[in-house]
Amino acid sequence: MNADILDGRAVAATIESELRTRIAQLASAPRLAVVQVGDDPASTSYIRAKSRAAERVGIKLAHHHLPAGTSLKKLKTLIEQLNSSEHGLLVQLPLPDKLEPALTRIVPERDVDGFHPVNLGKLLRGEPALRPCTPAGIMELLERSNHSPAGKHAVIVGRSNIVGKPLAVMLTQANATVTVCHTATVELAHHTRQADLLIVAAGQPDTVAPEMVRPGATVVDVGVNRTAAGLVGDCAPSVAEVAGALTPVPGGVGPMTVAMLMTNTVTAAED
Ligand code: GUN
Repeated sequence: MNADILDGRAVAATIESELRTRIAQLASAPRLAVVQVGDDPASTSYIRAKSRAAERVGIKLAHHHLPAGTSLKKLKTLIEQLNSSEHGLLVQLPLPDKLEPALTRIVPERDVDGFHPVNLGKLLRGEPALRPCTPAGIMELLERSNHSPAGKHAVIVGRSNIVGKPLAVMLTQANATVTVCHTATVELAHHTRQADLLIVAAGQPDTVAPEMVRPGATVVDVGVNRTAAGLVGDCAPSVAEVAGALTPVPGGVGPMTVAMLMTNTVTAAED
């Protein structure tokens, strides 16, 4: 078997075109501020992808690039200014530990990353809120490519606050039955082989080998690992020979994450 490709680039392009229509109804272009502290190369590359998408849909993105030694006070002050002047605001992660307390200064209405405790609380309660972009993008990709999770056994590998945990909530709300595996899971392969829908967000290449996948399963690879061999996901390439459908890396979840950030920004501008 060779897996069908779940084309995140194509679905993201459709979403961008829907956003251009929504933006045309607004009195002014939505404004998004992206704050970067230091020079993490992965962050720089993510911000470049966000800037290009913003340009394509008609969002005004302002990149605030601060030096690595920026103080907590300075970052908090900038965030408070941007809360008032922008529709959406995010601080690119990772952030030095001592600056983490600044993140909760982003008001929930501007929190287009969906990381604020208020937005995560609303997600848990099934109330409307800005949703974390990567899990929201995975849900959107599945629904729009006719792989609805309803009634499926979804197995997630990874329990991060950004992907695994919020995705477990979204899949449960979409009527999947959900298992969450993590670094302390005993016999990971036993669980992954039960999955109709396997989502791998472990941040490690080769976390999932083909013998860990039920033939015909839908596999979503969230990994973005920069290796000597280039950009690779969390699944071994030969998983494509067993899976029924698979997201490519690059071109799967990544473009969907960016499309959801643009969606959250337009939603914040509409409210
Ligand atoms: N770093 C890696 N992924 C993300 C993300 O979705 N949002 C932010 N702010 N930083 C990240």
